[in-house]
Amino acid sequence: MHRVAVIGGDGIGPEIIAEGQKVLDAAGERYGFDIGWETFDIGADRYLSTGQLLTEEDIQELSRFRAIYFGAVGDERVSPGILEKGILLALRFHFDQYINLRPVRLLEGVPTPLAGKTPRDIDFVVVRENTEDFYVGVGGRMKGSKRFEHQIVRNLYHVRFGLDIESDAEEIAYQIGLISREGARRVISYACECARERRKKLTSVDKANVLTDVYGLWREVFSGVVSRYPDLTTEFAYVDAITMWFVKNPEVFDVVVTPNMFGDIITDLGAMIQGGLGLAAGGNINPSGTSMFEPIHGSAPKYKGMNTANPMATIWAGALLLRHIGEKEASEAVLRAMGRSIADRVVTRDMGGSCRTSDVGDYIAAMVRKG
Ligand code: IPM
Ligand code: MN
Repeated sequence: MHRVAVIGGDGIGPEIIAEGQKVLDAAGERYGFDIGWETFDIGADRYLSTGQLLTEEDIQELSRFRAIYFGAVGDERVSPGILEKGILLALRFHFDQYINLRPVRLLEGVPTPLAGKTPRDIDFVVVRENTEDFYVGVGGRMKGSKRFEHQIVRNLYHVRFGLDIESDAEEIAYQIGLISREGARRVISYACECARERRKKLTSVDKANVLTDVYGLWREVFSGVVSRYPDLTTEFAYVDAITMWFVKNPEVFDVVVTPNMFGDIITDLGAMIQGGLGLAAGGNINPSGTSMFEPIHGSAPKYKGMNTANPMATIWAGALLLRHIGEKEASEAVLRAMGRSIADRVVTRDMGGSCRTSDVGDYIAAMVRKG
């Protein structure tokens, strides 16, 4: 029996998560385990009616789970940033989910916009740092002179600093990125282990030629960590260049480790080359705590409740969840069943089909039951 927390969230979140649950339950039936789901009402609706984003009580309850299955956040009635920072990022930070694992893999039968590339060419994993960098949420806007006090509270450390700003510009804004030695070390070590289990190649992403302090530290830590992995082939890539290589030569990548913000950007590109956002999944992982699995796309409010959204990214995230809780065979079966669904053209409109969200979930669940 595995207990899993469920946060459907906003927009299409609840309906795609329901399909994911259907498929994971089928995997449980076939591979001999039960999933005890516990649903949490967290998202825009609750925020609009009670003003609550993520409460102490939510955190208390969620901390009893090893895995959270998460749909999406974002709602047109709420200004951008409120739900994203107040729920999604708050969960990632609170549970110290310092790894954001994003497989970029072209499945058989899925078209890629990259001419001449096949599933053999597009199969790598992005390991995105998930708690630091420009995501620490430190910044300000001002006219004239002002003093700012900032605090960053993490499991690893507390950082507190003040800034006295005097300026005669009409208005300025600043945002601070922070990387810590231990924050970089732990995610780079994880990426090394990951590469060891794959094709033994690791690429580090940064912009150390311009942002010399933050990414200078990142590079230094990378060099130190990989020196303990002589079996790996390693390289550095600047973030601008890697976007070019993802398009031109995706086959050269195996594991790519990246600071948070660049990871956000390059994984949307990764999603496109693997067939679109409808297929891209991610895991927010704390190896010794509460992890969270989600599609990397947003809540697509326009399509809410229409039963047309593609549930495959969420189902793929479910496969990552199963793997994380030790159900490796079931996880692989879910991916195979997705493959069948694609081969049999049981796909939603974004993938050129005419199936509804629930048809796709039903079909993949049936394929999983067959084994
Ligand atoms: C993602 C999303 C989030 C991010 C947003 C919604 C905060 O774009 O998971 O990639 O920037 O990390
Ligand atoms: Mn993103």
